[in-house]
Formats: sequence, C-alpha cells, structure tokens
Amino acid sequence: MLKKKSLWFYMFAFIVVIAACSETTTKNVEDTKSASNSDPSSVSDLDPSDPMTPYIKDGEKIFNETDTMLPEKVGNEMACMSCHADGGTSQGSTLVGVTGQYPKYQPRAGTVQTIEERINSCIVRSMNGEKLEYDGEEMRSIVAYLTHISDGIAVGWDVESEQEIQIIEEIPEPSVENGEELYEEKNCMSCHATDGSGKGVTSGPALWGAKSFSDGASLSRMKVMTNYIKNNMPEDDAGSLTDQEATDLAAFLLSKERPEWEGHENDWPEEERPNDVITKEERKKIQEGTFDWSKMNH
Ligand code: HEC
Ligand code: HEC
Repeated sequence: MLKKKSLWFYMFAFIVVIAACSETTTKNVEDTKSASNSDPSSVSDLDPSDPMTPYIKDGEKIFNETDTMLPEKVGNEMACMSCHADGGTSQGSTLVGVTGQYPKYQPRAGTVQTIEERINSCIVRSMNGEKLEYDGEEMRSIVAYLTHISDGIAVGWDVESEQEIQIIEEIPEPSVENGEELYEEKNCMSCHATDGSGKGVTSGPALWGAKSFSDGASLSRMKVMTNYIKNNMPEDDAGSLTDQEATDLAAFLLSKERPEWEGHENDWPEEERPNDVITKEERKKIQEGTFDWSKMNH
C-alpha cells in the first residue's frame, strides 16, 4: 500500500517537473522575443523603492550616453548604443540574455571571461578607451542594466538562435570601389557623413577615422562587419541589402584608416588568428588592391 502511494507521488512529482520545464521553455522563447522588441524606456516603470532601480537607471544612461557620461574612459565618440541599438535590445546586436552567458570562454582572449571583462573589452577596443574598474560604480551599473534587460531569460540560453537575423557564413569576394559607390547610393552618408566621421553618437556614429572604433574591435573583422551591416543597416531600411552589397560596404569601411589597437600580437594566444581581422597591414593591401580575398573563407 505504502509502496503504491509513493509510486503515485513520484509520478505526480514527475508530471509537475515536466510541466514546469516546458513552461519555462515557452516562457523563455516568449521573453526573448518580447524582450528583443521591448522599449528600453520601460526602465522608467521600475519600482522606485527597489534598491536595484537607481543602478539600472544609471547603467542605462551610461549605456546610451557613454562618451558624455564617461569622457575620461571613452577614447572615441561612441556609446554602447552606437552598436548595440535600442539600449541593447534590438535584433542584430542584442545583449538581451547576455548576463546569463558569462563567464564564457573567449578565444580572442584565450581565457574564460567574466561579463565585466567582456564589457571592458568593448570599452578598450570598440570605444578605443580605458578599462573601467571591475568593482566600480559604473561597472556595477552597466551590469545591473544588462541583467535587467536579460530578466526572465534562462542562464546559458542561446539568444542569437532566437533572432530573426541572417548570418552570412561565407562572404563573397568584395569590391571596394562598389562599396564606395554604395555608400552614397544607399544613403549611408546621410546619417554617417560623407567623410565617415558621423553625425551623432546615436543618430549616425563615426564609421572610420579618429572618432571610430579601433582595429582591434570585433567590427574590424570582415565577417562581423558584413553581418552587422546586413542585419542592421541602413538603419531606416535594415535587411534591404544583398549579401554582396553588405560585403562591398564592409570592405570599403574597413579599407579606411582608424585608431590602431596596440595588442594584436596577444590576441588568440591559444589558436590561429581568424583571417578576417583587418589591421593596418591588411588595410594597406586593401587600399593598394593587392589583398588576397580568397583566403578569407578558409
Ligand atoms: C563599435 C561597436 C561597439 C561598441 C561601441 C560597443 N560594442 Fe559591445 N560588441 C560589439 C560587437 C560587434 C560585439 C559582438 C562580437 C562578436 O560577434 O563576437 C559586441 C559584444 C558585446 C558583448 C558580448 C556579447 C556576447 O554575446 O557575448 C557585451 C557584453 C558587450 N558587447 C557590451 C558592450 C557595452 C556595455 C558597451 C559600452 C560600454 C559596448 N558593448 C560597446 C560592438 C560594440
Ligand atoms: C537613417 C540613418 C542611418 C542610415 C541611412 C545608415 N545608418 Fe548606420 N547607423 C545609424 C545609427 C543610428 C547607428 C547606431 C546603431 C543603431 O541605432 O542602429 C548606426 C550604426 C552603424 C554602424 C556601427 C557603428 C559604427 O559607427 O561603426 C555601422 C558599421 C553602420 N551604421 C554602417 C552603415 C552603412 C554601411 C550604411 C549604409 C548602407 C548605414 N550605416 C546607413 C544610422 C544610419
């Protein structure tokens, strides 16, 4: 009798667990989608009596206005928002769910990175700046904000796989000349200026030159840049470019001068450096027309 009772108990418990699991799975998918489309100003709905609230709000402000909020730390004219649109919640460059993915092994660093280290990596490379203190107020606030936009997403959830983005795995051979023409034809210059120096940190950030990201940034990789353009630009008509057009534009942008990263030789210490990283040397060859694009997809 006792035995039968406990069997029922286990069966019941099992069903509860299964139900709970499937509920979380659906919930996560929904949350991922709704969070990706959510209005970042929803931060204003936060409970003012919650002690997390001021950190989240500060973090959002730093995220959206990094260059003016942290002028000593940012070396160019960019905010996190210059690349992670809509406060980090847009499709294509989303950070929704990111706090549940760290610590994570990073091949470029050759080590497991914490979320703070990954953020600092965007600051020193993409913002050509100086590291924030790992335990300082600013870092705490940025992490609090990223945790807030990741709320409800399961730890380890592969956020990218939920996005409606197109990934170009093998990039076609680009034409820099065509990229230059497209820069005008596709109206990139109306927001980013004819000389690529930008018209505003969050309305059209710099694409090359001193105000732009360094050549140690992820966007200085041909494949990352091509996919970024393909999925995000032109901002008012994202998704309209062909793979070839996105690739030509990426090659044109990366043929231009930009701040140089000093630590290239320390990157990818454990494995071969990916062959789409465009540094000074590669830039020169692209400008001269002697760059061997056929190597890029191998
Ligand atoms: C110039 C563009 C640029 C700027 C500015 C920038 N980022 Fe990034 N960031 C990227 C790109 C591109 C990636 C993705 C790299 C890749 O594909 O591996 C990335 C990745 C990240 C990641 C890791 C995402 C993951 O899935 O592992 C975090 C966290 C992050 N950025 C936070 C920030 C924060 C916070 C700021 C502002 C302090 C910032 N970024 C500024 C371009 C930028
Ligand atoms: C309507 C204005 C607009 C147009 C047109 C536009 N962009 Fe952007 N671009 C932005 C904004 C705003 C951002 C900041 C991120 C965001 O909000 O999507 C951005 C960010 C970028 C970035 C990453 C940040 C940086 O400065 O490096 C690249 C690269 C980029 N645009 C390339 C292009 C290219 C190439 C075109 C033409 C095909 C283009 N953009 C057309 C507004 C525009």
